[in-house]
Amino acid sequence: MAPLVAFLLSLNLLELIHGASGVTIISSDKDVEVNEFDKATLPCEYVLERGTQARLEWKRIAGEHISFVYFGEQIVEKYRERATMLGHSIELQRVTRADTATYRCEVTAKQDVKIFAEISFKLVVLVPPATPTCKVPSSAMSGSTVELVCKESEGSPPSVYTWYKDNVVLMDVSAKASTANNVSYTLNRSAGTLRFNPVRKSNSGTYYCEAHNKVGRSERCSLKFMQINDLDVTAIVIAVVTITLVLLLCGLGLCYACRRGYLGKSRSAKSNAATRTNTPPAGEDFKHTKSFVI
Ligand SMILES: *[C@@H]1O[C@H](CO)[C@@H](O)[C@H](O)[C@H]1NC(C)=O
Ligand SMILES: *[C@@H]1O[C@H](CO)[C@@H](O)[C@H](O)[C@H]1NC(C)=O
Repeated sequence: MAPLVAFLLSLNLLELIHGASGVTIISSDKDVEVNEFDKATLPCEYVLERGTQARLEWKRIAGEHISFVYFGEQIVEKYRERATMLGHSIELQRVTRADTATYRCEVTAKQDVKIFAEISFKLVVLVPPATPTCKVPSSAMSGSTVELVCKESEGSPPSVYTWYKDNVVLMDVSAKASTANNVSYTLNRSAGTLRFNPVRKSNSGTYYCEAHNKVGRSERCSLKFMQINDLDVTAIVIAVVTITLVLLLCGLGLCYACRRGYLGKSRSAKSNAATRTNTPPAGEDFKHTKSFVI
């Protein structure tokens, strides 16, 4: 145990004597935001403690997917056209929205005490939002839950959404305030949803939404009217109308059949069939059934 502690202490001592602790990156790790088709500079300047040799790698990380940008002392094929090394930093020309990702600079200095250092940048290529599409039901029953959805997929950074009812912006309301002010909606501005739970007749109106991010604001989606009906009235009206229609149709059908004489014909057809099969008289049939039952 003692020799190990002594060894570790001496390592620390060495670090102190040398003033710093191995390879050190001196660039700051601010996130980088650039407009589409501009150039982006990802800085990675470092100092080594000993030696002069260090291995430098640049990686691109998008979700689970990791690929190289700079590896084996050269820019990889895919980026050769538009990436240049400025010292250990990378300059990417003509960035597109597809370049939005995290980029990581990794430095390995075998001769240093601390042999590894890295720095990551989130590169966001700014794209204004497209005109969103809005999903608004044309009608619903009061008392039910209704969700309106606003969505666009170009904005970078991702858009936030604003809903309007009859040209008035719908404000965020906390759950507490919503009971106090008698409003029954919840907004999720990043998801673009406007949820009525429950929806009321007074929520009927014309709705539209807009998307915006730090780059710009979209056009509004096309206006949509939402009609909220009271459940009982509608149900009654529908029931009455349906019954009336059915009765009317039956009546008309009967009249038509009478006039054409279809009913008379079919009756005589039935009686013909009865005589042909020689059914026993009704009386006998009744007796037979009775005895069988007893
Ligand atoms: C809330 O509004 C609805 C209709 O808009 C009304 O029927 C109800 O009485 C109101 N409730 C309160 C607590 O004001
Ligand atoms: C809004 O929606 C997003 C994505 O659907 C979800 O992650 C987030 O938790 C929601 N926020 C609220 C306050 O419900």
